[in-house]
Amino acid sequence: MALHESALEELGLAPMWVRRAGAHDAAVEPQASHDDADVVADVAQSSPAATPVGIEDVRVDELARADAQVSNPAQSDAGVANAASEPAASRESARAEVDASPADAPQSRRAPPSATDDVPPFPDDDFAWFDDLPAGPPSNVDASTNEPAQPGIDTLDWTALEARVSACERCRLCERRTNTVFGVGDREADWMLIGEAPGENEDKQGEPFVGQAGKLLDNMLRSLDLARGTNVYIANVIKCRPPGNRNPEPDEVARCEPYLQRQVALVKPKLIVALGRFAAQSLLKTEASISSLRGRVHEYEGVPVVVTYHPAYLLRSLGDKAKSWQDLCLARDTWQKAGAEGNAGDAAK
Ligand code: URA
Repeated sequence: MALHESALEELGLAPMWVRRAGAHDAAVEPQASHDDADVVADVAQSSPAATPVGIEDVRVDELARADAQVSNPAQSDAGVANAASEPAASRESARAEVDASPADAPQSRRAPPSATDDVPPFPDDDFAWFDDLPAGPPSNVDASTNEPAQPGIDTLDWTALEARVSACERCRLCERRTNTVFGVGDREADWMLIGEAPGENEDKQGEPFVGQAGKLLDNMLRSLDLARGTNVYIANVIKCRPPGNRNPEPDEVARCEPYLQRQVALVKPKLIVALGRFAAQSLLKTEASISSLRGRVHEYEGVPVVVTYHPAYLLRSLGDKAKSWQDLCLARDTWQKAGAEGNAGDAAK
């Protein structure tokens, strides 16, 4: 290595460093970028020994930008000013060009600057080559989960939906679950019952309403000639147990709701019974009390909804069982009406 080259390296000026005159001027004077380009070309061809006192260091990325600008003045606006959003690969090619020996420097580097050469100034301490990459994930990545994009939940069949739920990591509840609790029963049922979220037993067994509350629910259903697995489908708003049986958080409900929506779309029930305040409020997107929601017919995803008490509540408040029976009677009437309308619709076809 020639003496002047090693001296230059000692000073951090070669081969990755070059000089730039009036760098700070460039920051306030866009026109000065022309000078930058000229200086780059000068450096590529001049002797380091001729480096003037007071000239400032310029890093290779700045050089790459100026270099690209001089190499192709016609594209300077698009190619250089947009360099901030270019992928790293294009930066690499710019860098390779910069690293070429002075003898290789194309004459075009000496081309006079054009009116399109105004390049915004870059800070001297801009070391982050990759910070300029596009902020969002590539288009084949789900932005909300940062996972590879998958078919929409609203397109899944039963098998795919169940698999998606059991692998779900859309919210923090996945961290402490034993099992997801998907749903159980007749997938072509007219009746769909929707509870809140799995408890301890449900989390262990992977099935909704298997504890004491579930037994009471089964008894209530029997009084209407209904049974899970025969003519009822049972699911919860939330598919994973909230730790300590706490109430699910709104974001957990939001993350889980597409699964329930898809279940409703697949079952196509004629009637939904919302079991308890939480299920009712979640389905109906309201904060109204359960007593104000009972006794009338609401709608979820186009399906009539009747609200009643949660069986776990009824276990503690026996006095409200009678009210619950009234609710079930309303549900049965609503279902019969929906069936009659459905049959009338079928007959009209
Ligand atoms: N409570 C619910 O709301 N759902 C269950 O599955 C169990 C208890």
